[in-house]
Amino acid sequence: MYPPRLSPHAPLSYKSRAIELASVVAGCGSCLPEKALSNEELAQLVETSDEWIRKRTGIRQRHIAAEGQLTSDLAIAAAQRALAAAGMGAADLDLIVCATATPDETFPATATRVQAALGMEKGAAFDVQAVCSGFIYALSVADAMLKSGQARSALVIGAEVFSRILDWKDRGTCVLFGDGAGAVVLRAEALAEGAAPRGVLATHIFSDGRHHDALYVDGGPASTQTAGFLRMDGREVFRHAVVRMAEAMEAALETAGMTAQDVDWLVPHQANVRIIEALAKRLNFPMERVVLTLQDHANTSAASIPLALDAAVRDGRIKENDVVLMPAMGGGFTWGASLVRW
Ligand code: ACO
Repeated sequence: MYPPRLSPHAPLSYKSRAIELASVVAGCGSCLPEKALSNEELAQLVETSDEWIRKRTGIRQRHIAAEGQLTSDLAIAAAQRALAAAGMGAADLDLIVCATATPDETFPATATRVQAALGMEKGAAFDVQAVCSGFIYALSVADAMLKSGQARSALVIGAEVFSRILDWKDRGTCVLFGDGAGAVVLRAEALAEGAAPRGVLATHIFSDGRHHDALYVDGGPASTQTAGFLRMDGREVFRHAVVRMAEAMEAALETAGMTAQDVDWLVPHQANVRIIEALAKRLNFPMERVVLTLQDHANTSAASIPLALDAAVRDGRIKENDVVLMPAMGGGFTWGASLVRW
């Protein structure tokens, strides 16, 4: 049942009528730049090799935005595909939340560019910035707004052009990242009394700002007035990634009253296959039920989870009613996990 449009003050009256809302997935979409850059091609730019990159990370290639192609261009294409998959148009949308660490401009939010391009003239559009955890943060915000009745539908986007903030002379970082965008449309639906929960079952987000120096960009409008370049202590990030993501997954499972055995698909942030294998091992989760795209996309930061979701939905792996667990971790540090019944 589709709930009626609410005024900003409506949540209270909704609550008093004890109607429980679920944030249900209506569709997803994605977009990758046309140009794929292989490890071999990269080895002509910096001192590296296909063997080193594959062995340490699992990455074979990454997509790189064309000159002039912006985060919003990728986000708009992903959004249009997600809306088409949902059978919805811009007029059906109340909210756009775009996760990105590489916005077109310092302001306004890239989400407002998407809003204008889609022809959406009402509602709200804003960006969320939590780097590689951005999609989970954006999902958490949209889910809360849908469940509180502030919006009836939301487009949640993860979109990045990390190629623009890479130091292409630093082989320790430039081999790891790629560009792309993914989007998911959520719709608030009223849950019948006693019905099994569906849609977003649980989302937990966390951060610990003390780890700033392990992964950051050495520029910005207030500090250097330049965009800056990504800097990373890879070993430190690796050390925290498995532990933090496992904690977040366990929190999400506990909230939903589930165990790893109830999960059909693990769709983790795609940073490094060794991190993902360690996560799966911790949960005793078979790698056959882990969606892996990093071999083709590399790490696309906030876009990596929605890109992987879209790939697995389109090839028929993720089906209606499947339980999907999505952990992420990124600069800040930020981390989190979301559990969704598709
Ligand atoms: N090609 C060839 N050699 C390289 C390269 C490269 N691209 N990069 C580094 N090396 C060399 C180093 O110089 C070093 O050489 P030395 O021993 O002569 O000094 C050697 O390889 C080992 O370097 P390490 O950094 O110790 O290699 P490590 O095994 O830790 O792997 C990596 C590096 C892949 C970055 C790993 O630490 C990692 O994946 N960390 C997680 C980082 C990550 O995923 N970040 C993404 C953002 S955060 C997130 O999404 C969770």
